[in-house]
Amino acid sequence: MTAPRKILTVFGTRPEAIKMFPLVHALQADNRFVSRVCVSGQHRGMLDQVLEIAEIAPHHDLDLMQPDQTLDALTANLLTGIGQVLDIERPDWVVVQGDTATAMAGALAAYYRKIPVAHVEAGLRSGNIYHPWPEEVNRKIIGSMAALHFAPTQTAAEALLRENVDPAAVHVTGNTVIDALHWITQKIDAQSGLADALAPLEARFAGKRIIGVTSHRRENFGGGMEGIADAIRRLAERGDVALIFPVHLNPNVRKVMHSALGGLDNVALIEPLDYPNFARLIDISTLMLTDSGGVQEEAPALGKPVLVMRETTERPEGIAAGTARLVGTDADVIVAEACHLLDHPAAYDAMARAHNPFGDGQSAARIAEQLAS
Ligand code: UD1
Ligand code: UDP
Repeated sequence: MTAPRKILTVFGTRPEAIKMFPLVHALQADNRFVSRVCVSGQHRGMLDQVLEIAEIAPHHDLDLMQPDQTLDALTANLLTGIGQVLDIERPDWVVVQGDTATAMAGALAAYYRKIPVAHVEAGLRSGNIYHPWPEEVNRKIIGSMAALHFAPTQTAAEALLRENVDPAAVHVTGNTVIDALHWITQKIDAQSGLADALAPLEARFAGKRIIGVTSHRRENFGGGMEGIADAIRRLAERGDVALIFPVHLNPNVRKVMHSALGGLDNVALIEPLDYPNFARLIDISTLMLTDSGGVQEEAPALGKPVLVMRETTERPEGIAAGTARLVGTDADVIVAEACHLLDHPAAYDAMARAHNPFGDGQSAARIAEQLAS
């Protein structure tokens, strides 16, 4: 019998944790692997929310988050911190997800030790290195080092092949976010009270249509966030809608949103929701306004139109299917597009089709099979 493979998963932010927990669960349950988990703590509160709900106790927690951290200080600390963990663990594989500073530094630290890297959610490309920033370049850096590329879709796989990645190293697996959504939906069904946090707001806004909002992108700091805030303020002037906005803990987001939107009747600025309650927010929303990556995948999967407040997207699948639309950060455009959907049932119905190009909920199992072979 061959010795089990030691797999070190490395992640540090909320979206990475959501998209990695299905894989950690799969590795833990499979005796072909020894599963070890290193979290960087690039996020603290928002990471811990996911670790708790997914019942993951990391073997290493670098606890690196600093208030309003700069990209260079964060990256330097990540590289040395993760490097030290690799020297202790000496894994057979390092697995990173997506495009954050943690993912990029984790891959680089592994490469420096000639430990093979597997990249989950590989091949997403917007074609613009400043949108999303710095994620587009983080992904490309990881892609240049990875030995296994787990592309969520055929489109993502083709982007890698265009960059001359060895076809034998590219596997279309679906996106583990769909595994995570299935898992959380089952948990909500099994555990009463798990997704009840919004009940007071649902009562306060009874009779109004809910618009769910998230925004946090670095490239939107400044004018972009101001445009988004202005659009929310103007939409809230309609008596028939209410906007529920769990505000990201990044102080650059909080400052702008709280000063522009605090105290408005039809806007609820709330703390980040844990995953079950955020899934509930999508569920009760008529539409989602977001600049998030993950929400662009989840909203279409749940049949909710999503207006993407970005100039470009590396997730064209929802746009192609007609369930997502790029609206940028100009307030006039956001308001016009949202009102069009709110006021034209046929336009709304055309977008509100459950559409799921991102996977079938079996992505983690496919990834585990590749890591085992
Ligand atoms: C990071 C990722 C981004 C990802 C996003 C998901 C990078 C460069 N950016 O952006 O790709 O889309 O996470 O949310 O990797 N903070 C807290 N508590 C938390 C989390 C953040 O207080 O739980 C505050 C801290 O002041 C921190 C700041 O937010 O310094 C910024 O966090 P950081 O991870 O650097 O950037 P994000 O904008 O969250
Ligand atoms: N999310 C959450 N609570 C919130 C907002 C978002 O659990 O209050 C989840 C959401 O379901 C998605 C992920 O966080 O899975 C997206 O994270 P974020 O938007 O921070 O990062 P991105 O996906 O843009 O990298």
